[in-house]
Amino acid sequence: MAESGFEKVAETSEVAPGEMKSIQLDGEELLLANVDGNYYVISDTCSHRGGPLSSGELNGDQVECPLHGAVFSVVTGDVVSPPASSGVPAREVRISGNEILVGPANR
Ligand code: FES
Repeated sequence: MAESGFEKVAETSEVAPGEMKSIQLDGEELLLANVDGNYYVISDTCSHRGGPLSSGELNGDQVECPLHGAVFSVVTGDVVSPPASSGVPAREVRISGNEILVGPANR
């Protein structure tokens, strides 16, 4: 059963290590990434011009925007490389059995 505020967004088998996928939660587009068996969720919308980050490239724990190449940490949402000048929101993730649960937007 989900803890309060945490909602199931996927099962662990849906995203293999080194892969990512887009998910929707409460009308928000989010990016779910598996980095060496650890799962992270950040906004899927690039802070530069709104590019879909989950359609970009995942390299280690960094995602490169498909539009103009900004790079973000999927762990923290922080911007690593321009042209974006600010990060994107990150969500807290918990694993319960084979379920991936995501916490509320609060940062
Ligand atoms: S929209 Fe992502 S780098 Fe421009």
